[in-house]
Amino acid sequence: MEIINTVAGLNQALNSARKEGKSIGFVPTMGALHQGHMDLVSRASAECDVVVVSVFVNPTQFNNPSDLEKYPRTPEADSELLKKFGCDVAFFPSEREIYPENLVSPRVDLEGLDEVMEGTFRPGHFKGVVQVVSRLFQLVEPQKAFFGLKDFQQVAVIKKMVLQLNLPIQIIPCETSRTEKGLAMSSRNTRLTEIQKEEALIIYQTLMQAKTDSAVFSPQETKARAMVWFEQGSLELEYLSIVDPDTLKELTDQWVSGATMCIACFCGEVRLIDNMTLI
Ligand code: PAF
Repeated sequence: MEIINTVAGLNQALNSARKEGKSIGFVPTMGALHQGHMDLVSRASAECDVVVVSVFVNPTQFNNPSDLEKYPRTPEADSELLKKFGCDVAFFPSEREIYPENLVSPRVDLEGLDEVMEGTFRPGHFKGVVQVVSRLFQLVEPQKAFFGLKDFQQVAVIKKMVLQLNLPIQIIPCETSRTEKGLAMSSRNTRLTEIQKEEALIIYQTLMQAKTDSAVFSPQETKARAMVWFEQGSLELEYLSIVDPDTLKELTDQWVSGATMCIACFCGEVRLIDNMTLI
């Protein structure tokens, strides 16, 4: 595995693969890698000839400076993990490499996908995600890019971006990896105590309960029941929505295929999100 810090180095590493027509699979990350990321890397490695993983904590997608500051950074451990799981090129760029002075970021109309859920509570977040992912796509030129479905809204936004910019890149959404008890894997989990990890299971339990309820109740009834269920726990809810998977519009009376419940909440100071397809 090559570890690379510059755009020039990245081009050098990928040029021969490009010339030989090898397929490039890309997994963008912000580091603090865990099993969930490794599942993405393994999938990329099974489907593509060359696997590139970027590790870059993107400042433009954080609306809260203390969240950015506290974001875990573990580059050595990340490199070790990537070596083990079939990454060929690990790209650890500096901010200068990603955002040179003259860079013009593309404008993308997200058609409201960035105005609900995460967009309401993290203003500007998806503009930052689009900015960094479009830049990384431009540098890596992958045929396929792999994203975890834990960030359900992010996947919808990235798909819209690829469509709008007409990029020849296939977006591969990958199932959320969970602990045995159901907690969605996240870099932020390292900031939870063992007790908090137990308390956070209420998220998964609520989603599972909602899945059962969805067979019998309408979306708005399922949502109301889920709120009551969630409140049995000790986490602080930010939002709980049942949405259409394409438009992210909230469902009320009618179910649609792929209807998904999304939850964001605080466990102590740590913000967690999770979701589940109900129907
Ligand atoms: O999901 C993430 O870790 C980030 O939002 C991403 C896609 C790497 C962009 O910084």
